[in-house]
Amino acid sequence: MKKILLSLICLLSVSLFANEISLIPQPANVSVKEGNFVFLKKMRVYVPSYEGDSVQMVFKNFSKDFKKSTGVSLKKTKKETSAQIVFKLDGTLAAEGYRLSVTTDKITIIAAKPAGFFYALQTLKQLLPRCVMAGVPCDTEDTWEVPCVEIDDEPRFAWRGFMLDEGRHFYGKEEIKKIIDVMAAYKMNRFHWHLTEDQGWRIEIKKYPKLTEVGAWRNSKVLGWGEVKPDGIHYGGFYTKKDAQEVVAYAKERFIEIVPEVDIPGHSQAAVASYPEFLSCDPENKHEVWLWQGVSNDVINVANPLAVQFAKDVIDELTDIFPFGYIHLGGDECPTHKWERNSECQALLKEIGSENYRDLQINFYKQLKDYVATKPAAEQRKLIFWNEVLHGNTAPLGNDITIMAWIGADGAAKDAATRGMNTILSPQIPYYINRRQSKLESEPRSQGYGDETVERVYDYKPMNNIPAELQGKYLGVQANFWTEWVEEADVVQYLTFPRLAAVAEAGWTPQEKRSYSSFVDRLQAEAEYYRLRGVNYGKHVFK
Ligand code: ACM
Repeated sequence: MKKILLSLICLLSVSLFANEISLIPQPANVSVKEGNFVFLKKMRVYVPSYEGDSVQMVFKNFSKDFKKSTGVSLKKTKKETSAQIVFKLDGTLAAEGYRLSVTTDKITIIAAKPAGFFYALQTLKQLLPRCVMAGVPCDTEDTWEVPCVEIDDEPRFAWRGFMLDEGRHFYGKEEIKKIIDVMAAYKMNRFHWHLTEDQGWRIEIKKYPKLTEVGAWRNSKVLGWGEVKPDGIHYGGFYTKKDAQEVVAYAKERFIEIVPEVDIPGHSQAAVASYPEFLSCDPENKHEVWLWQGVSNDVINVANPLAVQFAKDVIDELTDIFPFGYIHLGGDECPTHKWERNSECQALLKEIGSENYRDLQINFYKQLKDYVATKPAAEQRKLIFWNEVLHGNTAPLGNDITIMAWIGADGAAKDAATRGMNTILSPQIPYYINRRQSKLESEPRSQGYGDETVERVYDYKPMNNIPAELQGKYLGVQANFWTEWVEEADVVQYLTFPRLAAVAEAGWTPQEKRSYSSFVDRLQAEAEYYRLRGVNYGKHVFK
């Protein structure tokens, strides 16, 4: 009887602990033990040396925030045996993986790379009150303790992304930093920055100053659509090179790569309005930054060598600002009407031996890809395109490109993978998280009917029923946020959270360990995090 009682108490305490642990994304393997590790006011930490002091940097940033939130000092010691918190290198773990072992007298964090240590520390923060995760001073407790756990964790996918469209509306760098913070807390690692659109060009390019003198501004804050008419308000904004570099440094510290996107040759009316003399198919006509929603016909004249040179120059400056692996060149929804009526484009189509105007777009990209290949290794970037490029003859582009699949995403991704290309799943339904997230009256104006609920987003199964031989081509998942209807940053936040947490979990947690009901239980703690971090969120899934 005593034995049964004891094991019942044990079970109860484990399940109580389990309830207290609200980790998002759910780790691949977690087991909660009895007891707690109690932080003293000063703790000794052993941190091994690693390339360029990068693990030391991870520790330094963590200890600064930790002290601010809890008052606990984490002091480095050279003697591993005297440390209560030990960082250990183990090159056999996955690049972003980690092991976190908490016993009553020691915390051990094992990883192969700085990113793994960073993610272990995100988990450690989530084991504490949410003020720690939010990086704000906590006024709740004096003693700090974490439950004893053994966590053995690594991501399902290498690409766990979020895209924000700032072409339609501009929010500024402090907003981007907030989003980057939340992404990092959820172990996301790619911020896709959609920087150009028909309605605005948002990144300074020194060689083409009119892109931001002209292209970053328009005569309406709202974008016209149906009954909604342009309001005549002078509106816009852009990131200087310095601003963008500041965001780059911020993201890097949080192990997030920025993927800049210039969407060319379609969705480019703001660029065309800035330099109609060589970007437009009809320079004799008036061109202005667009005031409307939709897809503009005013695309770049891909048959003009100066337009090709322009794109190369833009790539050069992006390469300089963004020291990461990828550049996204867009490629979605590019109407060909203007090319069909332009004699230079007609002649070029003949010259490349095609009758499909989409191939002019491929030919444009081919020249850019070849150009990137001539650069020194450190300046080479891999190119990403939206999945419409698959409608052209992609043979000249080769298969060492990445396809971001949005429309008919599952089929398009499989098509790309079958052609030998890498692919990223960002299905319009349900991963366009700018769409209404509920049918509540209070839901702000946006696209959709409220069907892309947290549950629907959560329940999307990436890479479902894909043959094993193609799975290696699937880099991961990404949520996208288009801003035609969203003028204000707090509405961006409202629609983004908590659905981004659902996508983060799809990117990280093995499919068989995902469950919506468990997610909603774990999500409850996040309301406090959002409140303390100062981000708005959809309240309806919180009890
Ligand atoms: C897209 O939604 N046009 C990529």
